[in-house]
Amino acid sequence: MNRLRIMVLSLIVLVTIMLVAGCSTQQPTPTPSTQTTPATQVANVTATYVGEKTCQGCHQKTNYDKTPHYQSFKPLSAYKLDKTYGSITVYDGAADNAKSTTIDLSKALGVEMDTYVVAEIPKTAGFAKQFYRVGKLVKNPDGTYKIDSPGLVTGTQNWSAGDYSCAKCHSPGMGGGGTPDYTITCEGCHGPGSAHVAATTNEQKKATMVSPTSEICLTCHKSDPTKDPKSGAIIATNHYGTRDYTFSKHNTTGMINSCLTCHGPHGTNATGRLLRKDNPNDICVTCHAGKNYDVKTIMWDNKSDPHGHMTADHSFTAVPESATKVNPTTKNVEIVDPTVLDMIKKALPDLAK
Ligand code: HEC
Ligand code: HEC
Ligand code: HEC
Ligand code: HEC
Ligand code: HEC
Ligand code: HEC
Repeated sequence: MNRLRIMVLSLIVLVTIMLVAGCSTQQPTPTPSTQTTPATQVANVTATYVGEKTCQGCHQKTNYDKTPHYQSFKPLSAYKLDKTYGSITVYDGAADNAKSTTIDLSKALGVEMDTYVVAEIPKTAGFAKQFYRVGKLVKNPDGTYKIDSPGLVTGTQNWSAGDYSCAKCHSPGMGGGGTPDYTITCEGCHGPGSAHVAATTNEQKKATMVSPTSEICLTCHKSDPTKDPKSGAIIATNHYGTRDYTFSKHNTTGMINSCLTCHGPHGTNATGRLLRKDNPNDICVTCHAGKNYDVKTIMWDNKSDPHGHMTADHSFTAVPESATKVNPTTKNVEIVDPTVLDMIKKALPDLAK
């Protein structure tokens, strides 16, 4: 199971690399070759997940539990509920003849993004999937929380459940072969660790553990714009991506081809962000001496998403906000500047179709 997951991740990485490699006629691509991606290295090691507590036994990451990664998924016990929630009937989708089963809400696995209550449905219920969003957490004025139905359907089936497709990125361990962690922890980036734990010498310890590069980050933070399925327009975001990082001079010059130049993986800065410095501009000046960037302006936000799904623009002016047309109420940020469209179509041939 783990190997399969890693292989799928490797495939995603491979496809990403192939897509990026498509622009090599224009610029040298700084992306590393497939043989050396961390994901494929892990695939060569037979290992299973051991869980964060085991890692922490030898490596202490004191600030780690404050990171957005760690906070991405929490147990239900982290919230003060307004009453005791017991058994509910959930339906496998909205259809009239959808299968149903009873689950104990108080035994749910946890809460994603402070919003979605996620539960495992017993196999005997015959549902199509294993993990479902079975409730929605809503904050009461007095600070306690109530649990509503996920609200995915109207009608009488209040507790119709939704497939928890979000797990892949938000709680990668779920269903991944028995890791006790439901949030993004050590093994979400470093891969399964049993071989590393079992290793006896420091040499073996190193050989059995991966030092992740940007490729690992990009398995969850995809970095290309996408086509709007409805209008066919190219939009400057793919919902969860480091939008347009592909096109930044940082990437295309190969001089800084790493998320890790600016982001630290293990701890937050003074403002609670995963940035190497408290003031982002202090990172920039290590290379751009004497410049004082208005990072907020360069890295513009997608105004159409109220929940912050969309990463601030990472193209560093390669895709200026002026190249897009913004309708905050109805649309994603649609790219209209012909020069920019041309650049994207050359780099990502799929989007030209
Ligand atoms: C029994 C103790 C122990 C446990 C448990 C353990 N490690 Fe390690 N880890 C070590 C030692 C010892 C080293 C090697 C230190 C050195 O020589 O620099 C190491 C090195 C590492 C490195 C650096 C590898 C490199 O190439 O330099 C990483 C990353 C790492 N461990 C991650 C983890 C993760 C993730 C887990 C949980 C899955 C974990 N470790 C569990 C003892 C442990
Ligand atoms: C978001 C991805 C990510 C997560 C989650 C993560 N790491 Fe790392 N880790 C990295 C990267 C990337 C490096 C390479 C060094 C760097 O860039 O700081 C690294 C390096 C390390 C090292 C080598 C020395 C060091 O401290 O820099 C150890 C040990 C380590 N990680 C252990 C852990 C443990 C233990 C956990 C869980 C508590 C963990 N990591 C969670 C990405 C991650
Ligand atoms: C398993 C999927 C996954 C991996 C791997 C991953 N991330 Fe994330 N990352 C997420 C999710 C999900 C969030 C949103 C969490 C939230 O906002 O509560 C996030 C949030 C972030 C944030 C926003 C935090 C902030 O400062 O506001 C940064 C920065 C980030 N990740 C960088 C990285 C980097 C760098 C790496 C690689 C070392 C990485 N991520 C690897 C899933 C992942
Ligand atoms: C040149 C520096 C730099 C590089 C390289 C970089 N980032 Fe960022 N990133 C930033 C800064 C600065 C911010 C904060 C932007 C803000 O506050 O609006 C940020 C914000 C983010 C956020 C949070 C977004 C938000 O809007 O809340 C995520 C997620 C993220 N980066 C992921 C990544 C990933 C993944 C990579 C690698 C593909 C990457 N970054 C490469 C500088 C960088
Ligand atoms: C590790 C060094 C390094 C860091 C750190 C860095 N940059 Fe860069 N930056 C570069 C390089 C190299 C280029 C490409 C220069 C070129 O080809 O003209 C570049 C290009 C740029 C460009 C495009 C300039 C143009 O002429 O189109 C902008 C904008 C930019 N960086 C902003 C930032 C910001 C903002 C930060 C901090 C969040 C930052 N950089 C951090 C090295 C860095
Ligand atoms: C391909 C990986 C991926 C999938 C699948 C995914 N997400 Fe995310 N999600 C992310 C990343 C990465 C971020 C952080 C982006 C950022 O901060 O810019 C994020 C951010 C979010 C945020 C905003 C975080 C905050 O702190 O406000 C919410 C809410 C969210 N996701 C919900 C969901 C839900 C619900 C699903 C399933 C329907 C889902 N996501 C599926 C990767 C993913």
